[in-house]
Amino acid sequence: MLSYRHAFHAGNHADVIKHLTQVLIFQALQKKNKPYIYIDTHAGGVYYDLSSEEALKTGEASDGIAKVLDHPALPDAYRRAVMDYNPDGGLNYYPGSPAIAQAFQRESDKLVLMELHNNEVATVKRETRYWHNTMVHHRDGFEGLPGILPPDPRRGLVLIDPSYEIKTDYSKTANAVKKAYKKWATGIYAIWYPILVSDKSRYLLDELENSGIRRILVAEIQRPAEAGESFGMIGSGMLIINPPYQLDETLENILPELAQAMLGGSAEASVQWLAGE
Ligand SMILES: C[S@@+](CC[C@H](N)C(=O)[O-])C[C@H]1O[C@@H](n2cnc3c(N)ncnc32)[C@H](O)[C@@H]1O
Repeated sequence: MLSYRHAFHAGNHADVIKHLTQVLIFQALQKKNKPYIYIDTHAGGVYYDLSSEEALKTGEASDGIAKVLDHPALPDAYRRAVMDYNPDGGLNYYPGSPAIAQAFQRESDKLVLMELHNNEVATVKRETRYWHNTMVHHRDGFEGLPGILPPDPRRGLVLIDPSYEIKTDYSKTANAVKKAYKKWATGIYAIWYPILVSDKSRYLLDELENSGIRRILVAEIQRPAEAGESFGMIGSGMLIINPPYQLDETLENILPELAQAMLGGSAEASVQWLAGE
């Protein structure tokens, strides 16, 4: 039974680090005039109404995208992708990863969107029905990913964005990445993970660090845990395999300021190579 719904979390600080990384990778892929494929293993609901009951219940966007939308460190292309969903100039809607991908898609680029949840996949099918070169799979993204590799075209980005509400998501992510990499070692893989007070994501990082996969970059934002805080998310990270040239420097320049704006003055960012060349 899947209970997670991204509508409660749309536009939070985790979405910001995830989607700005996605944008920077699309910009790098578009430096060449060759088509790419974008594979989203956990697509979610395409875009989100920030005035919905779910979004208002948590108010997470107000401590996320709302805090940085006008920040000079935010990449302009990401700001534009958000504002495309808000033509009246306010911040009423937030684009999820499929919508960000579509904002950058050129004529010959392909999108593959996987989603397991019945209601969410119905939304994905409905909202993408007029998009070109877009395939929606109602299936488990961990199993689906290795099944479609190596892709045509052979260059592109895989986004793996589980909720990790189910503990096995950590091992399933590590296994899916290892299997996928064996079939497509030149793809770019961007994997989001939470930083919790109890450090469960270390398992995922250790598994991939010891997998033999090279060129793994890890970018994180986090605030210190408060006294007595024993559970919950205090930040998040992106693990990127085969990152484009200079992505490390770009993230190093922009993440510290964005982390402080969203997570408070004592928040920090770090960008490190988990595995080198
Ligand atoms: C964190 S949300 C995705 C958010 C989206 N990637 C974005 O950035 O806008 C995770 C999504 O994965 C879906 N999901 C959960 N388990 C899955 C699985 N094994 N395969 C595919 N989708 C799954 C959930 O229904 C949920 O919509």
